Amino acid sequence: MCGIAGYIGFRRADEVIISALKRLEYRGYDSWGVAVRHENEIRLIKRMGAIGDEKTYSVAEGNAGIGHTRWATHGKPSEINAHPHTDCSGKIAVVHNGIISNFQSLKEELESRGHVFSSETDTEVISHLIEEFYKGDLREAVEKTIGRLKGSYALVVMHAEKDELVAARYKSPLVLGVGDDELIIASDVPAILDYTSRVVYLEDGDLLVLMKGDFEIFSDGRKVNRKVETIPWSIEDAEKGGYEHFMLKEIHEIPRVIEDTLFEYLSDDIEIDISFAAGVSEVTFIACGTSYHASLIGKHLIEKLAGIPVRVEFASEFIYHQPPMHRTLAIAITQSGETADTLEAMRIAKKLGARTLAIVNVLGSTATRIADHVLYTRAGPEISVAATKSFIAQLIVLYLVALKLSGMTKSEMEGLLDELRIMPELVKGVLEHEDEIRAIAEKLSDYGNMMYIGRGIGVPIAMEGALKMKEISYIHAEAYPAGELKHGPFALLGERTPVIASLTPDETYEIMLGNIKEVKARESIVVAVTGHDDAEVEKYVDHVIRVPRTDALFTAVTHSVALQLLAYHTAKARGCEIDKPRNLAKSVTVE
Ligand code: G6P
Repeated sequence: MCGIAGYIGFRRADEVIISALKRLEYRGYDSWGVAVRHENEIRLIKRMGAIGDEKTYSVAEGNAGIGHTRWATHGKPSEINAHPHTDCSGKIAVVHNGIISNFQSLKEELESRGHVFSSETDTEVISHLIEEFYKGDLREAVEKTIGRLKGSYALVVMHAEKDELVAARYKSPLVLGVGDDELIIASDVPAILDYTSRVVYLEDGDLLVLMKGDFEIFSDGRKVNRKVETIPWSIEDAEKGGYEHFMLKEIHEIPRVIEDTLFEYLSDDIEIDISFAAGVSEVTFIACGTSYHASLIGKHLIEKLAGIPVRVEFASEFIYHQPPMHRTLAIAITQSGETADTLEAMRIAKKLGARTLAIVNVLGSTATRIADHVLYTRAGPEISVAATKSFIAQLIVLYLVALKLSGMTKSEMEGLLDELRIMPELVKGVLEHEDEIRAIAEKLSDYGNMMYIGRGIGVPIAMEGALKMKEISYIHAEAYPAGELKHGPFALLGERTPVIASLTPDETYEIMLGNIKEVKARESIVVAVTGHDDAEVEKYVDHVIRVPRTDALFTAVTHSVALQLLAYHTAKARGCEIDKPRNLAKSVTVE
């Protein structure tokens, strides 16, 4: 997720901005840049990689400037694509966070009027539009420009001829720090706290003008007042948005991540060109870890909705199978795009004749260069080792791919699409039950073993739930199809082994209740995850985690978020470190 910082005051702007950008490093970035106003000119530096020691970079003397850390979404990571972006005259500089969804048509329009673009980014249309509208008043030019933009943005703009910054916000965060004779604007509070703890949170639609020692906020063209708040957190707390761990913060970001991923691929219709899959007779998923569990859910969705047979392979094992793949679509799922086994399996799948699609979170990562086709999840950088928001973003892309592969007409899939559109609200409905989930987690935290069970789509939900639990709480947690319990795992059940059961509202529901009865007969505590409307379940189990009712297909999202919270609070009650579990890494780049 990109980070923005802008400064106007009495200090050297480049020094403040570079130190502020370093405070935003936790957001993840692949390149960065700073622009400073110096003697009626814009002076710029842009670099790939990490910022390093701020003392080694001096842009120019000047008390007004803007800077940016870029996490690539449109155009690969490179110095040219790094922000700030300028216009043709080089007098206007812009930093932007968000996605301009109509940038392609705006770019063509601007090019037809002679504008020359130097980057592949969506952002550069903003600087060129401002150039067209600028008649000596930067606020007016920015106001007119945002009237042309669709999508999301937090942006900060400066002009070479005046010590003034103009900022605007729509669906991307922006916060103003109000110091004594200095102002600092940034994507998040940690960038500000070294200078002041007094902040103003901007609202969607706000336009802000920062001058030396003063600022004005406009909404709908009218001047408005916004409250100045005092931040009570330390810098470290602030990086986590006030959450105790990145994992919890990332779970709470899920509604937003779903919105962003849907925004990318779902408007009136599903905006995914699946023509490359024409004529394939089977699909093979290759992935590791949590992405492997997303693949298992993908199998369920594609077989159910599209009727295409699907295999799911651990990338590390696929290497030894090497089946013929001439009419196969190989789908690699990988958050990082750098998992060594997944990359090797992709190369082999290509050699075997498969068409390859990668579902990836990190733009420009190696997987995106190997695959024939790429679909990006819009989870933003994930800091916690345990994957949470990236997993849900993978599922959202898989729903869309499965529906697209199904060949259903728009009206046939409308019911499911409607449910997908309200998914951010449904997840908020899960998060509202966090206190109840925490109370159950605290009761579970003393046990050394757990069993997760489900049927149908409930099986991969259980597998991912168990993985989360073992990764961060160090409790041995296994997952089984409920029907398999009697073929071995029953021997492990008893009062010291709680069972977590995912109950989905489909043909598996009744038989799951039967399995729960069998489990209760072995004296295990049972926690059920089920819909709000499930009136039966209380009679069978010890604890219930309620989630909003959805079509069974979408329980993969609602139940998984509930199980992520269950794992988190269990680990917390056990005093585990959570974000960096022992022996585990976020990106596994060795086979
Ligand atoms: C590591 C991470 C897991 C992740 C897996 C696959 O084990 O700790 O959270 O699911 O790698 O990573 P990928 O980036 O390929 O999805």
